[in-house]
Amino acid sequence: MIIAPSLLAADHASFGKAASRAAHAKADWLHLDIMDGHFVPNISFGPQVVKAIRPLASNLFFDVHLMCSRAEILLEPFAKAGADQIIIHVELGQKVESLIWKIKQLGKKVGLAVNPPTPVSLLQPFLDKIDLILVMTVNPGFGGQEFIHETLPKIQQVADWRAENKFNYRISVDGGINLQTAVECARAGSDTFVAGTSLFGQRNLKSAIAKLKKHVSQARPASSLSPESVSK
Ligand code: DX5
Ligand code: ZN
Repeated sequence: MIIAPSLLAADHASFGKAASRAAHAKADWLHLDIMDGHFVPNISFGPQVVKAIRPLASNLFFDVHLMCSRAEILLEPFAKAGADQIIIHVELGQKVESLIWKIKQLGKKVGLAVNPPTPVSLLQPFLDKIDLILVMTVNPGFGGQEFIHETLPKIQQVADWRAENKFNYRISVDGGINLQTAVECARAGSDTFVAGTSLFGQRNLKSAIAKLKKHVSQARPASSLSPESVSK
């Protein structure tokens, strides 16, 4: 299981401090939300910030989530800045295949994100080419939103595809993840948990991460190939 605190929920005046706090708090990954003001109605930060904080959290895997329309111009800058994985959105349509290829060429892991209103069937052509699926559990653009429960069957569906076909991708969830919703996602099949507000909002990040890990590891797994799940 992977816990990935999302830097978006940290104090924007102290990103460096927040990154080293996450490293010391035994986070597995640091999730970095990149917003362009076009694909989503918000702007966050760019490759210079990622480069600046990289040395302050050298043991953390940098999980860069591009919510950007022109992802093609950003792959190399973020790869050079220290991304370990780059996630692009399946909503980019015809560009997706070449973006996946370019990320691999840059020697980085590749993730594919899917927004709440987008059908997971759009992911199908890429399932054997990616390292991670990011099921958005809120509409992207802002931290602190409420988890959308209707996304749970999508997690179950991609988990079923993985079990049936022996694919290797991780299943990550992002948006409104807290102790309770993380357990619901884990039962549906997710193994990677991005959490902003519910982690960086705590005074003791280390104990918040430990608590989240404990809750998730105690979640009873749903049988991943149950007939109900296959029909969803
Ligand atoms: C939403 C971002 C998320 C965000 C999650 O657009 O992709 O990564 O930081 O924040 P919380 O956990 O506060 O919902
Ligand atoms: Zn994100």
